Amino acid sequence: STYETILVETRGRVGWITLNRPEALNALNTQVMHDIVAAASEFDADERIGAIVLTGSERAFAAGADIKEMEAKSGLDMVMSDHFGGWARFAAVRTPVIAAVSGYALGGGCELAMMCDLIIAADTAKFGQPEINLGVIPGMGGSQRLVRAVGYYKAADLVLTGRMMDAAEAERAGLVSRVVPAADLLEEAGKAADTIASKSLPSLYAAKAALDVALESTLAEGIRFERHVFAGLFDTADQKEGMAAFREKRAPDFTNR
Ligand code: HXC
Repeated sequence: STYETILVETRGRVGWITLNRPEALNALNTQVMHDIVAAASEFDADERIGAIVLTGSERAFAAGADIKEMEAKSGLDMVMSDHFGGWARFAAVRTPVIAAVSGYALGGGCELAMMCDLIIAADTAKFGQPEINLGVIPGMGGSQRLVRAVGYYKAADLVLTGRMMDAAEAERAGLVSRVVPAADLLEEAGKAADTIASKSLPSLYAAKAALDVALESTLAEGIRFERHVFAGLFDTADQKEGMAAFREKRAPDFTNR
C-alpha cells in the first residue's frame, strides 16, 4: 500500500513506519493519523511481523498535532469529529512498537511516542508538552500517560510551563528507555526491534497486554491478569519449545503456535 504522509517498509520481521511531512516537522494532521493507524493495523494483522518501529526525521519525530489544521475549530467541532479518536487504535496495537525519536517530540509527538512500548531517543531528542503555550492542554493522552511515565511533579513541570526537556533529562525521568548517539539511532532501534521480533508472538502479545494492565488497573487486578495470561502460555507449543531449548542448551525455534 502507499501512504501520503508516511514511508512504510518491512525489514525481516520488523515493520518500519517513518513520518514524512518534512515541511511541517512531521506535524500530526488527520491524514497522518489515518496513515499511521492503517499501516500499524496492517503490520498487526501480519503474523510475520514481531515488532514495529515508528520514527521521524533527524530534526523531528513530530512537532505536535497540526496547529494549522486545528486552529479554526470549535470545541463542538473537536468533539463531533472525534479529532484524535483514531489514535486509540494505534495505542491498541498488539505488536510491540518502538518509538525511535530524534529531534522534536512535542505535544502530540510526545504523546504519540508515549503510545509506543519502548522509546529509544537520540541524544539530540527534545520532549515536551507545549500546548499550554497555545492556550490548550495535551489532547492525545499526554496529561495521563506523562504522569504515569515520570510521576506527577515532573509531568506538572512540563505540562504547566510548556518547556522542553532534553534526552538526558527524559531518561533520568523515566520517559526514555535508552539514549543513543544520534548517528546510531536507527541501527539501535532496529537491533532492539529484531531482538523483540525473534520471540514467540503469543508471549509478546501477552507481555504487552500485561504491561498495559499495569498502567490501567490496581495491583491486585493486574496480578490476577498476569497469572491468568501466564498460565495460558503453557498451552502453547512455543512454551514447550522455549523450555526444551533451554534444557538442550540451544536457541529456540519458535513457530508462533
Ligand atoms: C503545524 C508546524 C508545527 C505544528 C512546526 N510546524 N510545528 N505546523 N503544526 N505543530 C511548521 C512550521 O509552521 C513551519 O512551517 C515548519 O513546520 C518548520 O517549523 P519552524 O517553526 O520554522 O522551525 P523552528 O524555528 O526550528 O522551530 C521548531 C519548533 C517550532 C520549536 C518545533 O516549530 C514549534 O514550536 N512548533 C510547535 C510545537 C507545538 O506547540 N506543538 C504542540 C502542538 S498542540 P512554515 O510553513 O510556517 O515555515 C498538540 C496537542 C494537541 O500537539 C492537543 C490540544 C488540542
